Amino acid sequence: MTICDDSAKSNRDHDPGQDSAGAWRRLAPDYERARSKEDSLDRLVEWPAQRRMLGDVTGRSVLDLGCGNGAKIAELVRDGAGTCVGVDLSGNFLTELPTGLELLRGDLSDPTSVPGLTGRTFDRILFLQSFGYAKDPVRALRAARSMLTEDGFILLTRTHPIRYAAERAEKNGTSLGEEYFSRSPYTYRSGWNDRISLTQRPYTISDLINVFGPAGLWIETTLEPQLSEEDGRRYPNKQAWMNKYLGILIFKLRPVPVG
Ligand SMILES: C[S@@+](CC[C@H](N)C(=O)[O-])C[C@H]1O[C@@H](n2cnc3c(N)ncnc32)[C@H](O)[C@@H]1O
Repeated sequence: MTICDDSAKSNRDHDPGQDSAGAWRRLAPDYERARSKEDSLDRLVEWPAQRRMLGDVTGRSVLDLGCGNGAKIAELVRDGAGTCVGVDLSGNFLTELPTGLELLRGDLSDPTSVPGLTGRTFDRILFLQSFGYAKDPVRALRAARSMLTEDGFILLTRTHPIRYAAERAEKNGTSLGEEYFSRSPYTYRSGWNDRISLTQRPYTISDLINVFGPAGLWIETTLEPQLSEEDGRRYPNKQAWMNKYLGILIFKLRPVPVG
């Protein structure tokens, strides 16, 4: 999910498909530590791009599914967003929250059944590097769609699947195509804490895009954010990482009108 780039070479382990809740509960503090570093790719690339895609949030209600410690949604509230809710399984939340923000422990797989969310609607719903954890991706997106206000949209980001394929090809001495189209789950040590293993369910760009239609959503915009030239010069190890592993994909999704 986002991010989590704490080393120059293998640092973006934040979007695995089949992590156990237990692994994330243990990993959460390490993840947040890595994310808050001055040169983390989340700070340099992802969060600025996510903010640009969100646009002006003044007075908007926002639901952040898989919100981590809640720092991103807290920033939106401080910048003028309306009533906001963050949901995360880990429960590793900030202790001081701005007025108007609620953080709930729950599973993003079905946001409509998270206690405290039933019957509520939001102008913006975020899955920032968290969508890969949904048990049934189409079901999770359909549920999120049903919680949007009339002019609402979903912002969804996921690690570029080429990243995982390139990493595995390097490790296994295989080709990019073999790994990109492989269907076998693989387990690896997290870059945020090497005592914790994560399991990744491989996906291709088609796998990712093909869930949007069945969930009743269309893609309004897609973005593949990159480092600015200045930051690339300032942090050459991050530029080298981006050149090799590409980064993330960001989708702005709107409900397909009914009828
Ligand atoms: C990579 S982090 C992303 C955090 C945050 N969205 C960001 O952009 O920094 C993924 C988050 O998803 C949470 N998560 C994993 N599985 C989840 C689930 N089934 N329901 C809710 N949250 C989950 C993890 O606890 C973790 O905080």
